[in-house]
Amino acid sequence: MAKYSLKNQSILITGANRGIGAAIATASAQRGSRVILGVRDPADSTAQDMRRKLEALGANVEVIELNLSSRAHIEDFLKRWGAREAPDVLVHNAGVLTGGLIESQSVDEIYLSLQVNLVGVAHLTREMLPAMLRRGSGCVVVNSSVSGVMNFPLASTYSAAKTGVLALANCVRAETQGTGVRVLSLLTPGVKTRMFDEIPKRYGAHLDLDFLEGAISAEAWAEQVCDAIEAGVEELNPRGATRAGLWMARHVPGVFQRLVASKFNRSGS
Ligand SMILES: NC(=O)c1ccc[n+]([C@@H]2O[C@H](COP(=O)([O-])OP(=O)(O)OC[C@H]3O[C@@H](n4cnc5c(N)ncnc54)[C@H](OP(=O)(O)O)[C@@H]3O)[C@@H](O)[C@H]2O)c1
Repeated sequence: MAKYSLKNQSILITGANRGIGAAIATASAQRGSRVILGVRDPADSTAQDMRRKLEALGANVEVIELNLSSRAHIEDFLKRWGAREAPDVLVHNAGVLTGGLIESQSVDEIYLSLQVNLVGVAHLTREMLPAMLRRGSGCVVVNSSVSGVMNFPLASTYSAAKTGVLALANCVRAETQGTGVRVLSLLTPGVKTRMFDEIPKRYGAHLDLDFLEGAISAEAWAEQVCDAIEAGVEELNPRGATRAGLWMARHVPGVFQRLVASKFNRSGS
């Protein structure tokens, strides 16, 4: 028996039209949740396909416009959300990948990465948390990354955001101890999505990626995420070789950095 069943719980997921967000939406719908798909464009075919897919599963589904790319966009979403009750589960999933030598990254992308991957998460948490606290229940899920701990060259701005969001989750977890609100951090490993396919393009010229473990499916990761929400754990870690890499980065960072440095080639291949 799950400690915190997802059945009949409302779950708002950002970036829910594709990738890991869509898989979490599907897995939670299969467990009986009422799903609110946060998407940049509700009219887009990916959002509509997701709605139909979840309705076919018999789920109660809503699609809502939620763009994290600026403070103004988030404030627009909050106006639309209005006085509604906060969701039982809020999944901060939407993300963008940035990468390359820091001096080669576009300034627009740097700002966008920190906005979507970090600042937007802080803003939305700030707005949703008071209603969860009044209710005395809620779960905030933060989709970080193994890059939040394993800081590779070329991932500077992405890792900065993902490390930051882990710190944010740790602080909010400490602030909400004993209130009934829970915070779950996802140390997401390589997952087969459009973002994963971008990694060789962004990092491949300067980093030998052979030592990285292959990606798992979004569906498999989403099941683990839903299990973690229902079990009430604070952090979901990957399995396999990535777990060992994560351990190395945390406990013997010098060894990890030397290993990564041996795979890095500044001049490019
Ligand atoms: N895949 C991996 O290997 C991996 C590993 C570690 C962590 N993660 C994290 O997992 C999360 C999901 O990644 P994914 O692999 O599923 O990526 P994905 O397939 O590229 O999907 C990204 C999602 O985020 C949405 N999004 C992008 N910019 C947005 C914005 N400004 N406002 C609102 N939504 C926005 C996208 O919406 P559109 O369709 O409108 O673009 C899409 O729904 C991200 O936070 C990512 O950093 C992924």
